[in-house]
Amino acid sequence: MSYYVTTPIYYVNAAPHLGHAYTTIAADVMARHMRQRGEEVFFLTGTDEHGEPVAQAAERAGVSPRELADRNAQRFKDLAPLLEVSNDFFIRTSDLPHVQRVQDVLQTVYDNGHVYKGLYEGWYCPRCADFKSGTEIGPDNTCPIHGIPLEWEHEENWFFRLSEFQKPLEDLFDRRPDFVAPRARYNEARAFIDQGLQDVSLTRAKLTWGVPVPWDDSQVFYVWFDALLNYYTALSYADSGRDLTDTFWPATYHLIGKDILKFHSIYWPALLMAAEIEPPQHLYVHGFLLQEGQKMSKSLGNVIDPIQVVDTYGADALRHYLLRDVTFGQDGSVSTTAFESRYESELANEYGNLASRTIAMVHRYRDGVVPRADLDPSLNGDLEIAQHVSALVDKADLTAALETIWQSVRRLNRYVEEQAPWQLARDDSQSAALDTVLRSLIEGLRVLTVLLHAYLPAATERVLTALDQPRTDYAAAAYGAGEGGSGLGALEPLFPKR
Ligand code: MSP
Repeated sequence: MSYYVTTPIYYVNAAPHLGHAYTTIAADVMARHMRQRGEEVFFLTGTDEHGEPVAQAAERAGVSPRELADRNAQRFKDLAPLLEVSNDFFIRTSDLPHVQRVQDVLQTVYDNGHVYKGLYEGWYCPRCADFKSGTEIGPDNTCPIHGIPLEWEHEENWFFRLSEFQKPLEDLFDRRPDFVAPRARYNEARAFIDQGLQDVSLTRAKLTWGVPVPWDDSQVFYVWFDALLNYYTALSYADSGRDLTDTFWPATYHLIGKDILKFHSIYWPALLMAAEIEPPQHLYVHGFLLQEGQKMSKSLGNVIDPIQVVDTYGADALRHYLLRDVTFGQDGSVSTTAFESRYESELANEYGNLASRTIAMVHRYRDGVVPRADLDPSLNGDLEIAQHVSALVDKADLTAALETIWQSVRRLNRYVEEQAPWQLARDDSQSAALDTVLRSLIEGLRVLTVLLHAYLPAATERVLTALDQPRTDYAAAAYGAGEGGSGLGALEPLFPKR
């Protein structure tokens, strides 16, 4: 099976912050997990470089939009490996093949009769690059997301006949109740459709920083249409010489934040239908990371720097914290205190300590060789969780999947206490029992480590190396798939005190 997961492409009007790292990390967990299951995976992230948000930021910085884009795209690109993110390609919407492909697709939409010339008049937020109406307009005509005054726009544009897609979108939502998840977001998108869809501007006249409209050189495409198409265009040139579209389209999952639901759940499938391209399979909408009750964002100035966190604690710690402390799919507060507490109580004291003490006991009591004993069947239920974990990841329920694994980490720590190997070791008649306990603990640790691999790629790699059982494929996540008899290496503390 092929599996294609994407993140939104990030505006290059500012440097990356924790909110961007969040979506990218989540997508990475899904991609890594699916690779473990042997699926053919394509994982895309990248930058959104055209349009007003970038043009205005460049003007403020006194540089050209291209200079600003080059500078900031590089920062997003460099962030991925720091977060242990394994994307297969990084798209920039200023890539020439993307620009050409956007023109091709939108020319088809035009040729199919879904575009007309009209006059746009209404409120516009240059930071969202969004035309606002109804409940999207805050008090005194401000943007409810950015808190800045909206601008009254009045210009001649080409329009996309979104209204024609009212019925096809209703059908899509009826046919596919899992098109948008979680359910509350499906309902929100559905309510937007039910209000009645109006045609939308497809082009902008005032702006030059964008993809030129092939049938009218006085206009560029409205940045959202150019941006949304990245998910589709990337497949045509990501792997030079090979077009991956047939293999990976339609995308399995577009992960998005809740702020960009309307574009992805309504404009995007409508546009694809207009171009006679199949809509994606699923959109998964996550919530906001909040600080002091507000969306964390560069413009609000309340940012935790992911690079600093990773520098001090490592990527695994950030990955764990974000997917564990904030339920994926809902809003959640983030703070340094909560981060440090998860690091210490869970990563260091629970998983880290389980790994180090289990390995240390085999060194101490069995000269570092895992006994070839039977496994303790009382742990079966706690360790045969791979299928359940996969079912949750299939639904992008990443916090529940991690919680399932973590319950078993805790169970194994309790098992150590209950069995007290240090007491068994004092009594020669308990030698067989000690063999079973040690072998079961090592095997349990190995299974949970394989399951945690998608979340904590660096730490789990070290544990599997120390266990001398490097397999990370999903079949290896079965209790009993590992062998006794392996000689253990040393394991430095996985999550040292900071
Ligand atoms: N460029 C558009 C997306 C185009 S996709 C075809 C855009 N870019 S953005 O950089 O402003 O934000 C992109 C995404 O970053 C958000 O949808 C969300 O996924 C993530 N986040 C940005 N701030 C966030 C939080 N405070 N919390 C969680 N995610 C946030 O919109």
